[in-house]
Order: sequence, then structure tokens, then C-alpha cells
Amino acid sequence: MRGLRLGRGLLGAAVLAASAGGLLPARAADPAKVQKERLDTMKAINQAMREIKVWSGKGDFAKVLPAATKVAELTAKIPGLSPEGSNVGKTRIKPEVWKNFAHFKELTEKSVQEAHKVIQAAQKKDRPAVLKAFSGLANSCTACHEPYRVPKKED
Ligand code: HEC
Repeated sequence: MRGLRLGRGLLGAAVLAASAGGLLPARAADPAKVQKERLDTMKAINQAMREIKVWSGKGDFAKVLPAATKVAELTAKIPGLSPEGSNVGKTRIKPEVWKNFAHFKELTEKSVQEAHKVIQAAQKKDRPAVLKAFSGLANSCTACHEPYRVPKKED
């Protein structure tokens, strides 16, 4: 019976952790590794943004689509790649993230939505709409960088 009770306790803890997971950042198992993955993801997002810019400039919307999809998918990963305590090594993430994790997630969601607007506009091959959506998307990046990323001189 002891085993069963322990089992229930663990299950309860797991359920609690799962429900809190929506709001609270998990602790990093390996902070340096997760920090590197976050930076690599940001670099890949940035690269995909450049592709959107180039291909929308050329009016090649078939190529805008995969790039915008990549931005949406990678951006959605940001909160999962930002567990508390992952501000180690060469990082510019601000610890405020973990005081306002719900807000950090909201900003992520907003960026993902903006990326979907680019996708929709590209599907319609509507150039002005693509350019407008791209600018909205870029602004949504800044909306998170301003409060949660330490500025660099060249930013
Ligand atoms: C929800 C918050 C959030 C959103 C949305 C977001 N970023 Fe970031 N970004 C960060 C944080 C935090 C860092 C700092 C990470 C670090 O240094 O550990 C960062 C870092 C970066 C970097 C610097 C990488 C380096 O090598 O130092 C680039 C480039 C970048 N983001 C691009 C983007 C682009 C482009 C978008 C929009 C499509 C975007 N980010 C959306 C939070 C965000």
C-alpha cells in the first residue's frame, strides 16, 4: 500500500507540474546547453527572416512560404528554450523573463500569429500584404527584445 500511496503522490506532483507548466518556466536541466540551443534558434529565425525579405522583394512567394513557416515554428519554441536559470555564458536574456513568463509567452504567441499573417499573404501572392505582414512580424520581435534582451551597441 505504501508503494501505491507514493505512486499517487508522484502522479499528483506530475499533474501539478503539468498544470503549472502553462504559466511557469521549467528549470533548465543543462543551462549552458539550452542557452546555446536558444541562441542557435534565434540565429535560424533571423536567417529565415532574411529569406522572407529577399524572396518577397523578388515576388517569389513560393519561397516566402517555407521561410515564414520556419519563423512560426522556431519562434513557438522560444519559451520552451528559456527555462529559468538558462541565463548563463554568452547570453543577453534578462532575468525579468522569469518574473513575467506569462507575458513572455504572450509575446511569443503574438510573433507566431504575425508569422501566420505572412504565410496567408504569401499564399494569396499579395505583395503589399506580405510586406505589411513582414513589418508587423519584425515589430513583434522587437516587442520582446526590448523588455527581455539586453541591448547591444549595434542594435
Ligand atoms: C518572446 C521573446 C522573443 C521573441 C518573440 C523573439 N525573440 Fe529574439 N531573442 C529573445 C531573447 C531573450 C534573446 C537573447 C537570448 C540570449 O542571448 O540568450 C534573443 C536573441 C535574438 C537574437 C540574437 C542572437 C545572437 O546571436 O545573439 C536574434 C538575431 C533574434 N533574437 C532574432 C529574433 C527575430 C528575428 C525574432 C522575430 C521573428 C525574434 N528574435 C523573436 C527573445 C525573443
